[in-house]
Amino acid sequence: MTALTLSTAAAPGLRADAIVIGVAKGAQGPVVAPGAEAVDKAYDGKLAGVLETLGASGAEGELTKLPAPAGFKAPLVVAVGLGARPADDDAGYDAEALRKAAGVAARALSGSKKAAFALPVDGPGAIGAIGEGVLLGAYSFDAYKGGAQDAKNAKAKNGKAPLAEAALLGGKPRDAAHKGALARAVAVCEELNRARDLVNMPPNDLTPAAFAALTQTAAKEHGIKVQVLDDKALVKGGYGGILGVGGGSAATPRLVKLSYKHPKAEKHLAFVGKGITYDSGGISLKPAGHNETMKCDMSGAAAVFAAVVAAARLGLEVEVTGWLALAENMPSGSAVRPGDVLRMYSGKTVEVLNTDAEGRLVLADALWAASQENPDAIVDVATLTGAMMLALGTRTFGVMANDDAFRTAVHEAAEEVGEPAWPMPLPEHLRKGMDSQVADIANMGERWGGGLVAGLFLREFVGEGITWAHLDIAGPAFNEGGPFGYTPKGGTGSAVRTLVRLAELTAEGDLG
Ligand code: BES
Ligand code: MN
Ligand code: ZN
Repeated sequence: MTALTLSTAAAPGLRADAIVIGVAKGAQGPVVAPGAEAVDKAYDGKLAGVLETLGASGAEGELTKLPAPAGFKAPLVVAVGLGARPADDDAGYDAEALRKAAGVAARALSGSKKAAFALPVDGPGAIGAIGEGVLLGAYSFDAYKGGAQDAKNAKAKNGKAPLAEAALLGGKPRDAAHKGALARAVAVCEELNRARDLVNMPPNDLTPAAFAALTQTAAKEHGIKVQVLDDKALVKGGYGGILGVGGGSAATPRLVKLSYKHPKAEKHLAFVGKGITYDSGGISLKPAGHNETMKCDMSGAAAVFAAVVAAARLGLEVEVTGWLALAENMPSGSAVRPGDVLRMYSGKTVEVLNTDAEGRLVLADALWAASQENPDAIVDVATLTGAMMLALGTRTFGVMANDDAFRTAVHEAAEEVGEPAWPMPLPEHLRKGMDSQVADIANMGERWGGGLVAGLFLREFVGEGITWAHLDIAGPAFNEGGPFGYTPKGGTGSAVRTLVRLAELTAEGDLG
């Protein structure tokens, strides 16, 4: 990952490959954002005009390169768009605008050794946002690039290495709040990027057992307790949902429990993640065109894993338990069939009408397992339904809950960290569509409102009286389009920052 430093140095004397500055959209054209005063001065105060001549407007996502002025040690100035200039000059720039701009610059500077970021900094919040933007924007996944015979040249052959070092100007290296904001950004983004790696890993390598093994290595470093239930233990425990879904694959399922507890913890949060390492649909097989990206179906579990490790690294005064429901959904002679009835861990029976509605089956067992500890709240994260993508598009996740105030709190936490989210209802009338002739409930209901039907199914497996929210991240978990802002192509690490924020708010006593 990119190494970050805080620097009070002045831009002209900095030895770097580039100086990154901000340009905002003003009423009469682009305006140079605070932080770039030295660069503007060296352009005789005419930088805004120069940028306009080069076609810059200050729009979000825009990037303009220009030669550094005479006397600068760095050869290049990279101007990134910040969007609309804040109405009030003292208001400062929105954290998400800084995060995106820093991400765009970091992405454009891949292959460079060092860049100085001279973006507007008005406090630790801005430092954290710029740090996150750099670390997330510089991400690349090249573990599988370059043949073994050419391993040493892999980077050179297949693309540029990520930006090696970023100095954040305006950051105060001796200021505790600035240092703290940077340390938080590093901890959260290292774990978030690890979640992206897991999502991007091909499913022939990331089996449920391999995923479980990886969590053990990482957890040991950070004082997290890991318990893995393998297929034998799942049979013994009666986890019919996870076993049913995993039964068609040669790679057997797992349920992983990650426990982090600060000695001063007063509240207990449980995170539950859908971890389908590959979703072929099973006997209700997905058609070609719908299965190429289904390695991403473990994004919820990856997010939960990353969030628990980040909470531990940040030493949050809270108890966080992560549950990863890991299985591969494959068709075979031992696969669950449409028409089968599964006896779930909760004791309820489920008629499987469509084996492609598998996420809710593994989550049901994990939600019930999480409920047995009676946590203060449960949040599950899942790439659960195509219907949620139809409703909210590819960048926004849906939030459902059995408690209106909690749903609002989760939605606000998401918006606060820069993750677009939207509240969705759980209409009671949709429950009867899942009535089954033979079992307590079916895993399919009405077609319309499919994302809400899935939420209603999950609600049945949350322990009585426990506050619960469900994040359907089917849209934002995997970016099939080009990179934008600090979001790369492929695995995005969706929901990690929201979960970490929820753990922080709980630790501070501001949630529930
Ligand atoms: N993993 C899919 C949902 C999904 C679709 C995630 C596209 C990401 C991108 C899930 O298991 C699934 O197949 N859901 C079905 C449910 C249906 C059979 C009730 C769906 O949404 O079509
Ligand atoms: Mn499916
Ligand atoms: Zn799935």
